[in-house]
Amino acid sequence: MDTGFADRIAWVTGASGGIGRAIVETFAAEGAAVAAHAHTGGDALRDWVGTTTWADRIAVVTGDVRDPAACDAMADGIRDRFGRIDACVINAGIWCNDALPLHEMPVDRVRDVIDVNLLGAIWTARAFLRALAADGPAPGGASVTLIGSTAGRFGEAGNAEYAASKAALVGLMRSLKNEIVRLDPAGRVNLVEPGWTRTPMTEATLDDPDHVRRAVRTMPLRQLATPDDVARAVALLASPVAARHLSGQTLTVAGGMEGRVLWDDES
Ligand SMILES: NC(=O)c1ccc[n+]([C@@H]2O[C@H](COP(=O)([O-])OP(=O)(O)OC[C@H]3O[C@@H](n4cnc5c(N)ncnc54)[C@H](OP(=O)(O)O)[C@@H]3O)[C@@H](O)[C@H]2O)c1
Repeated sequence: MDTGFADRIAWVTGASGGIGRAIVETFAAEGAAVAAHAHTGGDALRDWVGTTTWADRIAVVTGDVRDPAACDAMADGIRDRFGRIDACVINAGIWCNDALPLHEMPVDRVRDVIDVNLLGAIWTARAFLRALAADGPAPGGASVTLIGSTAGRFGEAGNAEYAASKAALVGLMRSLKNEIVRLDPAGRVNLVEPGWTRTPMTEATLDDPDHVRRAVRTMPLRQLATPDDVARAVALLASPVAARHLSGQTLTVAGGMEGRVLWDDES
């Protein structure tokens, strides 16, 4: 199937991280031009882009998604470079690997996680939709794909602030799917919810075999996700062909996880 990515222009936030980089690779391999975003990791991302076969179609943009003006400036920079933006993947995020109950959690940690994961998603979506309003409908329809988490669906004791930040993206997605069509009648907004995935964010936790054993006991498929597993789900929902009539949908990439233990240690 033709995915319809050829000549599509995509903005992927958090492309210096594990899942974001896999999304850039998947989109670029399908023929898209990609604005790959980093916050502190711009140099390493540029170095990696230079080693790929699509370097001429990938631009690195940098900025802090906590700052709405920085998000607007990134969108303007991408439009200067590529002419417009057709697809936006809102992937930048943080998660703290020390589990703390909310009553012991420092206020700054709560604020920071909400600032990056929720407000950062809002500012990025706002900047993208402002660009769409200025440039008019995208060929094949504009798309926004938010990266949530199974923590937003099932909760995550010890990371309540993270679970709350990701659950809120569902409300954002359901609202924006009804707004985007006023700017682009074929515009779509969807959400991908990864479960445990090996990336720099989780490597310290997933280096503990005991943690992995406990995590995969909740999944029929009994394995962690790879960044490519998540990237392929994002590509499906961002495809103007495969997902032409899909909006307001959540795709969970977690090996069938349903929030309870399915395997005992002996099985
Ligand atoms: N890994 C998992 O198990 C898992 C599970 C469920 C959901 N997710 C979600 O998937 C997304 C990607 O996670 P990942 O595992 O790939 O994490 P990662 O490797 O740690 O990458 C995180 C990315 O977010 C960017 N970022 C962090 N703070 C930022 C800020 N203030 N402004 C702009 N960008 C910022 C980082 O940029 P720099 O490095 O350049 O600073 C990096 O590119 C996140 O939203 C995460 O919550 C991950």
